[in-house]
Amino acid sequence: MQIVTIVGSLRKDSYNKRIALFMQERYRGKLDMDILYLNNLPLFNVDMEDDPPEAVKEFKEKIRNAEGILIVSPEYNHSIPGGLKNALDWCSRGDRVLVKKPVFMVGASDGNVGTARMQGQLHQILNAPGVAALTLPGNHVLIPNVQNDFDESGDYANQRTIKYLDKVVDGFLAWSKQIYC
Ligand SMILES: Cc1cc2nc3c(=O)[nH]c(=O)nc-3n(C[C@H](O)[C@H](O)[C@H](O)COP(=O)(O)O)c2cc1C
Repeated sequence: MQIVTIVGSLRKDSYNKRIALFMQERYRGKLDMDILYLNNLPLFNVDMEDDPPEAVKEFKEKIRNAEGILIVSPEYNHSIPGGLKNALDWCSRGDRVLVKKPVFMVGASDGNVGTARMQGQLHQILNAPGVAALTLPGNHVLIPNVQNDFDESGDYANQRTIKYLDKVVDGFLAWSKQIYC
């Protein structure tokens, strides 16, 4: 399945980015993951939505062509990071490229609740009329204290989470197949 992965953190050494890269390797063959970063997306402005900047056009085109979407993001101040909200706002207007798109999410933080509040709000946004994406039910990949999950080589190494990720990825593949049938 060909999916676009959106990384919610702009940080160079982001844990969430490293998990997205880990997943790209681990699920090669099941998921063909194109990872998108939000660093170059300008701020959403209604005045620009009919003819948005090139970076927005390219971003939306990739989302439009994807069979599914994975969002891997930290929690900022008990919510979704501003850059991710900005990207979703662009996607919600004009050609609404996320409508009926199957989406699943993974979130890692260095705190104890592993992005639970961010993911609750992300579900709410994805369900807004302009976005109207379909979210994988019942699978919440919450990764707390992520700073402890990497081995000496810097590879993601929390075996319990990896096992759960395997299950969620298979669940996502089976669920999205039903949607497309
Ligand atoms: C602006 C800001 C707000 C944050 N708010 C939260 C928060 O609400 N909950 C939480 O668990 N961690 C919070 N953190 C800590 C992040 O979990 C931590 O910085 C994490 O490494 C960010 O993910 P990244 O490594 O992918 O950039 C915050 C960090 C920043 C920079």
